[in-house]
Amino acid sequence: MTSQVNIINHSLVQHKLTLIRRADTSTAKFRQLLREVGMLLAYEVTRDLPLKYEDIQTPLAPMVAPMLAPDKKMVIVSILRAGQGLLDGILELMPSARVGHIGLYRDPTTHVAIEYYCKLPQDLNHRDILIVDPMLATGNSAVAAVDRIKEANPISMKFLCLLAAPEGINNFQEHHPDVPIYTAAIDDKLDLDGYIVPGLGDAGDRLYGTK
Ligand code: URA
Repeated sequence: MTSQVNIINHSLVQHKLTLIRRADTSTAKFRQLLREVGMLLAYEVTRDLPLKYEDIQTPLAPMVAPMLAPDKKMVIVSILRAGQGLLDGILELMPSARVGHIGLYRDPTTHVAIEYYCKLPQDLNHRDILIVDPMLATGNSAVAAVDRIKEANPISMKFLCLLAAPEGINNFQEHHPDVPIYTAAIDDKLDLDGYIVPGLGDAGDRLYGTK
């Protein structure tokens, strides 16, 4: 078994991704685009959330209408810090979602993911989890985040990113074949520093203007 890779090739997502990639896109614009794309990606990823039917009254007539099952609220787990850029958009669409954070940094030489922060909602064993990080590069952070969340035995997990490298997908699939990946694009490769090429540069630096 290997995890499914779902490419979200919606035209709006692809257009915004191109603007995000451009080196001359400002920090403000980058942030706005990442939020917008977070919303669009979340729309695709949540298309099969379970619904339940309720009796309601419209101004004209009673009807039985679909609603998201209240006990099925998703938990979004953002991998710090770039995950925050996607999270902001996702929360606009799902304002009552619970949110967890996992802080991981890459050792600059070994590229091993080192956890420095973790705060997750308590009842993950009753929840469906969406893990978000714009970049699936080496895959080490994503693998470490899923390792951590699996300790809480959630109902299901999906991993959502904006860009993936083949190396990151392979690494992730090897460790977590049961977790589907959602991405807007798969780029060519990683460079020697572990950056996705052609990519968009360092997502955290571009989001927060730290370079
Ligand atoms: N993280 C980033 O922000 N960019 C990459 O290209 C790879 C990892």
